[in-house]
Amino acid sequence: VDGGAPPAEGSAGAVSADPWPDGPPRPTGMVAELTYRCPLRCTYCSNPVDLAAYRDELTTEQWRDVLGQARAAGVLQVHLSGGEPLLRNDLPELVGRASGLGMYTNLVTSGIQLDAGRLAALLDAGLDHLQLSIQDARAAEADAIAGGAFHERKLAAAGLVRATGIPLTVNVVLHAANVARLTEIADLAVSLGADRLELAHTQFYGWGLRNRAALMPARAQVEAAAEAAAGVHRRHGDRIEIVYVQPDYHTGEAKPCMQGWGARQLVVAPNGDVLPCLAAGQLPGLEVPSVRHAGLAAIWRDSAMFNAFRGTAWMPEPCASCALREVDLGGCRCQAFQLTGDASATDPACRWSPHHDTVARAATVHGGREPAVPRANR
Ligand code: FES
Repeated sequence: VDGGAPPAEGSAGAVSADPWPDGPPRPTGMVAELTYRCPLRCTYCSNPVDLAAYRDELTTEQWRDVLGQARAAGVLQVHLSGGEPLLRNDLPELVGRASGLGMYTNLVTSGIQLDAGRLAALLDAGLDHLQLSIQDARAAEADAIAGGAFHERKLAAAGLVRATGIPLTVNVVLHAANVARLTEIADLAVSLGADRLELAHTQFYGWGLRNRAALMPARAQVEAAAEAAAGVHRRHGDRIEIVYVQPDYHTGEAKPCMQGWGARQLVVAPNGDVLPCLAAGQLPGLEVPSVRHAGLAAIWRDSAMFNAFRGTAWMPEPCASCALREVDLGGCRCQAFQLTGDASATDPACRWSPHHDTVARAATVHGGREPAVPRANR
């Protein structure tokens, strides 16, 4: 996250003693998924498919306690996310709590519920950074993906954020129906005054996997996108940081998901479940720990969930003897499970996976058609 330094050791709320000198490295980042409710219904939504299991949301007091535990465990950055976190009326209080503990606060939002009053309250509470999602450069196409008339309201939200001077990241998920407008999208982000632009190809978990045939770009689109990304970097790279996340289905390279399982970040779901990544709740045979039943530090350090794929000892061949195992960190466990039925298998995105043909085949099925399954958040 750009726009300021995290607090130094010794600042408010800093850890005074190492609670596990022989344990895993401390977490440095936490994704606090405050709610899965959301006005948008994007076809690549990262929310779980079984939303009914998450309706019992943590209370304000419980989230305040979780934030305190996170800081004590070492967390320096909190990403307040969802769903749409602005649907929680206690958001300013939670921002204030995290900020008071000395943590860097990032609000990940669609911007639909943002107005000048709410933004002022969040800034008063200590909000450090805002990440705004945009679906496309053009309103009709953006609204078609988001499932409603949202684009103009998002642009208005960006204007409010820009007027405050707070750092702004614009995040765009790329897919078959918008990737041809990558340059137009980057131009829009620059005109909005964004400090940072994330152009990330769709990750095919959950809703994205269900809608994969509609979202999957053609190889020619991916090649054109890489050229366009290089072009916008040349044109705008001196005034805006541009991050281009390649599609792992097409590169033949596994991505270091979450920068390693249980290595740096943890996710707390709206109901208090604690996970190493957004999608780990689906993995069979691993009990999902919860802040309702255990402390955050103990979950991070000792739970079967967080230790299942930590480090490299769990890796099968060809990963175990691969020179890249410390680079891709074994890829994505959830993708391995979804495509092979085995969460410990080599990520099929890797060209050396025995299951790589499933990915290679899926990468040739594309079209930008209407999704064949319901949208997210229904
Ligand atoms: Fe779970 Fe990648 S999403 S490991």
